Amino acid sequence: MSNNLKIGLFGFGCVGTGLYKVLNQSSLLSASIEKIVVKNKNKQRELSADNFSYDPNVILDDPEINLVVELIDDADAAFEIVKTAFRRGKNVVSANKKLIAEHLEELLKLSAEFNVSFLYEAAVCGSIPVIRNLEEYYNNDSLTAIEGICNGTSNYILTRISKELKSFDEILTDAQNAGFAESDPTLDIDGFDSKYKLQILLLHTFGILSQPKEVLNIGVRHVKQADVSFAKERGLRLRLLSYGRRVEDEVVAFVAPVFVDELSFSFDVNYEFNGVSFEALFSDKQVFTGKGAGSFPTASAVLSDVSALQYDYQYEYKKKNSTHLGLAKDFKVKVFVSANDQSRLALFSFLSIEEEYQSAGYAYKVGWINRSDISHELYRDNPDLFIAFYGNNPVELIGTK
Ligand code: HSE
Repeated sequence: MSNNLKIGLFGFGCVGTGLYKVLNQSSLLSASIEKIVVKNKNKQRELSADNFSYDPNVILDDPEINLVVELIDDADAAFEIVKTAFRRGKNVVSANKKLIAEHLEELLKLSAEFNVSFLYEAAVCGSIPVIRNLEEYYNNDSLTAIEGICNGTSNYILTRISKELKSFDEILTDAQNAGFAESDPTLDIDGFDSKYKLQILLLHTFGILSQPKEVLNIGVRHVKQADVSFAKERGLRLRLLSYGRRVEDEVVAFVAPVFVDELSFSFDVNYEFNGVSFEALFSDKQVFTGKGAGSFPTASAVLSDVSALQYDYQYEYKKKNSTHLGLAKDFKVKVFVSANDQSRLALFSFLSIEEEYQSAGYAYKVGWINRSDISHELYRDNPDLFIAFYGNNPVELIGTK
């Protein structure tokens, strides 16, 4: 590619505006935003209306534009934009985790066919350099585990609900006002956003390409003050983890709230901050923390991808091309389940129970169950049922315990 990057930018929301500003402050880059396409004609923006177009083809049909930066939050529209950009020979940088989690296989084929680059550092943990580290630094098969707090909104809620008497809904509204919740916050609080990011991590950590329905996601929506008190009494904290751990030739993967103690990297990752821990055979454990959302932090990751394209950088997916690992289907998990209506706890077939409690209006059990006895639907359909995994290492493959 020519070192002179001519950018067509889709979206001028929080991250798009951030990119516009950070690009203007970056003297090392030979890159300019040539055209900006947005959807809503009536929205108030920091630039005057004559800076914007509304027809995607204004960018896609322009042969001078050699890089499309896609920062919209409609994954379906983004899919069409990215596919067309590839077919027109344009490289693409995206921050759209849903798009990537749902369509990566097709996008990889298409980008290879048209010999273009597709980079998405900003899609996982905002400003934290995760993907390129996994591709380049951990460029071998020695990784054994990856755990992340990948959703700032959930972490913000879990942190504040344990420190204040504010309700879940009030704190969620604060997260929306602060600009880090998705426009549909269900994606945050029901664990979908964390799952999309985990899928991307599983690919770059273990070479495993997955579909969203293959990975369990339990969210934080049903957390109750009594659950938070349970954690505090034991010196534990609740964290929504995106979790992938290699056990023999399988990878146990899930998104769920987990009760962790102070030995977990996640214990001190608070509020909207994200954190990721890598474990590898020889380097042991490394932890990265930083801002996972917000205008400038996310724009900084986009900027890093733009900068990499000056040198024709592409992900090589070496682990995907050589992996013999698959997602584990059967494993045991140590869970905590609680409900206001204690009869709901009968929904779970415990293999063993380690602790239980029952009073008028609140009951819980802690013990081991089979992964197949938990589903997103079970969580979704029982609004007073809180499901969390328990302990820093809450999983075991069937047959090992
Ligand atoms: N809604 C996301 C979060 C934004 O809360 O982390 C960044 O992906």
